[in-house]
Amino acid sequence: MDKKTKLWSGRFKETTNKLAEELNASISFDKRLYKHDIQGSIAHAMTLRRAGALKKNETSKIIKGLRAIEKEISSGKFVFTPDMEDIHMAIEKHLIEKIGKLGGKLHTGRSRNDQVALDERLYLKDEIASILSLIKEFQRTIFEIAKKHVDTIMPGYTHLQRAQPVLFAHHLLAYYEMLKRDFDRFSDCLKRTDCMPLGSGALAGSPYNLDRKFMARTLGFSCVTENSLDAVSDRDFGLEFLAASSILMTHVSRLSEEIILWSSQEFGFVELSDAFSTGSSIMPQKKNPDIAELGRGKAGRVYGNLVSLLVVMKGLPLAYNKDMQEDKGPIFDTVDTVKNLLKVFPLMLKTMKVKKDKMKKATVEGFLTATDAADYLVKKGLPFRKAHEVVGKIVANCVTKGKTLEDLTLKDWKGFSNLFERDILRAVLVENSVASRKIYGGTAKTVVARRLKKVEDELKKG
Ligand code: ARG
Repeated sequence: MDKKTKLWSGRFKETTNKLAEELNASISFDKRLYKHDIQGSIAHAMTLRRAGALKKNETSKIIKGLRAIEKEISSGKFVFTPDMEDIHMAIEKHLIEKIGKLGGKLHTGRSRNDQVALDERLYLKDEIASILSLIKEFQRTIFEIAKKHVDTIMPGYTHLQRAQPVLFAHHLLAYYEMLKRDFDRFSDCLKRTDCMPLGSGALAGSPYNLDRKFMARTLGFSCVTENSLDAVSDRDFGLEFLAASSILMTHVSRLSEEIILWSSQEFGFVELSDAFSTGSSIMPQKKNPDIAELGRGKAGRVYGNLVSLLVVMKGLPLAYNKDMQEDKGPIFDTVDTVKNLLKVFPLMLKTMKVKKDKMKKATVEGFLTATDAADYLVKKGLPFRKAHEVVGKIVANCVTKGKTLEDLTLKDWKGFSNLFERDILRAVLVENSVASRKIYGGTAKTVVARRLKKVEDELKKG
């Protein structure tokens, strides 16, 4: 490689070592930023023109050249090689090849340090916008399924032990709420990503009279960064994106875990469609929930990406350091992972069969209305602790006799406390237990139906 092929080779006597060149190059992954890099360069050329650093015809030649390069790249004609170093160099060098020395004027008043910060912000703004609409779609799917299950009763769990009966709609809406917070977190992160760093130069600001507000307007940013040192060193927007993604993945992973459990023979609450399950290479009977397992497994990958970037950033002195090139792997990988999962999960849920009878049967078998029996005694004047003890004894007795609470006769109940009257027989029915939780945020059908109505309105607002 001739040393002159590098745009920065003026002060160098030797060429770059081949291995060092490969290590240094980011072109194999940052080529993904080409559209945003060109978009930024066009805005920069227009701003140089306003500052009097480019003539009108020079500006249009540069812009035409950049647009032609964009076409070459998107059509796959452009061949990327490691000696190009990164996407910024590749495009600038090709521009010079195409339009001659004039191409060398584009980098006036700019550094790759503010350029890469700009590209990443433009890129993430686009990706966050599409993640936001995927989250909305996911919420819509959950709402649609929940609407069909306001009469489906299932066991609610604590410690993975059957606890109290809940509506399946209520359980699903818990995920709607999580996704709603995810939506807000990504929207919030978008606000800080939406700030324009160009004009910061290498670190100290550009000596040219670049109209930064014009650049922000042209590129669709709502503000300009305030401090040039911060602007080229800041990757908080990337960290926030990874943090929001990690929390989202926690939710995807918890839902995955539930689907995995529910689709096991032990639970049998749901059956995934064949289209979202896989078979075993050896056991002919198997139908495995691999997609849900990957929803759980890929959370680890995204957390790893967050930790990677945190560690890359934590010890860096101001301003730019090449370590920061390592931000791209974690960010790009997270964008791909999160988008893939957000696309596939709604489809998996929509095609999942819900086995209402199995759910209902599980609520009767697990003494899930024991709390209701205790609350019954409380209403009759017994202190809750005492009531808890009495019902505990009843449950223990049922366990030895192989009975459910619903099997007990009034005589059986009275054998444990005289406070029990005929209405205890109804009080321990799971339907009654659910209906009694009318408190705001509770699982009673009336409350869940009201929440569904509000959710529908929220979704309509978009
Ligand atoms: N490829 C580099 C990165 O991703 C671009 C910025 C390079 N700046 C520099 N001064 N070497 O961070």
